[in-house]
Amino acid sequence: MTTHWIDAAAQDDVPQDDVIGLIVQGRDIALYGVGGEVFATDNLCTHGNARLCDGFLEGHEIECPLHQGRFDVRSGQPTCPPVTSAVRSYPVRIEGGRVWLALD
Ligand code: FES
Repeated sequence: MTTHWIDAAAQDDVPQDDVIGLIVQGRDIALYGVGGEVFATDNLCTHGNARLCDGFLEGHEIECPLHQGRFDVRSGQPTCPPVTSAVRSYPVRIEGGRVWLALD
């Protein structure tokens, strides 16, 4: 199956060691800048109604602003309670100064 890459943002719009939220094809997505790389997950926490882009990024971990649960932004896997379910993560490709996501 061919991967369908979607142009989501300029690479320069993703701050290093920080997170931004944006809507890509109707989906609420969080983009994380870590160590010169960009990672992408769904923006809504799997524990409650909080946007991860409003949280605190430390290394590869995003801390939810509501109850301080944590996810690894590389895989979406939970790393700290109360979150127990992974947040969906998406493949990222950087090309031509743009951030491309595979959302399917
Ligand atoms: Fe994110 Fe509770 S809503 S940890």
